[in-house]
Amino acid sequence: MKERLEQLQVEALVKVEQATDSKALQEVRVAYLGKKGPITEVLRGMGKLSAEERPLIGQMANDVRAAITEKLEEKEAQLQKAEIEKKLAEESIDVTLPGRPVQAGTRHPLTAVVEHVEDVFIGLGFEIAEGPEVETDYYNFEALNLPKDHPARDMQDSFYITNELLLRTHTSPVQARTMEKYKGKGPVKIICPGKVFRRDDDDATHSHQFMQIEGLYIDENVRMSDLKGVLETFAKKFFGEERNIRLRPSFFPFTEPSVEVDVSCGMCNGKGCRVCKHTGWIEVLGAGMVHPNVLEMGGFDSKRYSGFAFGMGVERLAMLKHDIDDIRHFYTNDLRFLTQFTRG
Ligand code: DAH
Repeated sequence: MKERLEQLQVEALVKVEQATDSKALQEVRVAYLGKKGPITEVLRGMGKLSAEERPLIGQMANDVRAAITEKLEEKEAQLQKAEIEKKLAEESIDVTLPGRPVQAGTRHPLTAVVEHVEDVFIGLGFEIAEGPEVETDYYNFEALNLPKDHPARDMQDSFYITNELLLRTHTSPVQARTMEKYKGKGPVKIICPGKVFRRDDDDATHSHQFMQIEGLYIDENVRMSDLKGVLETFAKKFFGEERNIRLRPSFFPFTEPSVEVDVSCGMCNGKGCRVCKHTGWIEVLGAGMVHPNVLEMGGFDSKRYSGFAFGMGVERLAMLKHDIDDIRHFYTNDLRFLTQFTRG
């Protein structure tokens, strides 16, 4: 019996040592220490032993049991520790790995130009006005001194929706809408940025949809010199202090007199180069003194009030400012183009 116990202990300890997980360990525990295990069996057979042997074997069986239990616990702890370490290793995060860059996006160059122009004019006391992109024939043409059969309507090929509704061909209808809102009482001092639409074939300099910024200033005694001063300030703030402007006579039905405004070429400083086609000047906008008919239709007394108005193309401003050679770049959403522009 003594040998049997010794043998069991050796066997059990080896098996414990060989166990690779807690499940295997549990099996060893049941096999050797369980109710049907060999040690229990030994203890059951003690009745057959002599009175001297009984306590010795009993003691020994307890020692063997204790030795196996101790080894089991030791191994259990070892396995648990290994398992935790394994799990930790698997779940560890390498904090030194660089993160994935987040695409933050940038302002669209046209938005940046609009905001820049807005800032300049807000600084001059103007407010921002808005109007609808689907416009009535009345506001887009009639109220701007362009009656139905006026030949100048051909200057702007329009997208008509019905006989009376169209996509606005310019931001000028906002002039008429704003005048109505002010009910004949000045001063009116607004600019209006927005989308406009024309039946043009798209190419490097034309787009069937583009943006304009309209300006309108009505008050008593507004003079052409005010127009010149405001636009010169704008040109210097937007393009650079070294820039100058010049006015050339022109025609628009809604202004009298009308002018075309040029800004001195920034590439050659007015000396003449490829960009300004060797004239030293670049055309940037149309403007003029608000036509008395337009004032009257807008509800303003043209004897008491006078005003100036202007309209400029946002794409054109952006192309001049950033030396962009094709208007289509603004609408094709190529990130290589778009990410080159940030306001500043
Ligand atoms: N509406 C004109 C256009 O689209 C631009 C323009 C010219 C607006 C003169 C004005 C102005 O307010 O006074 O071509």
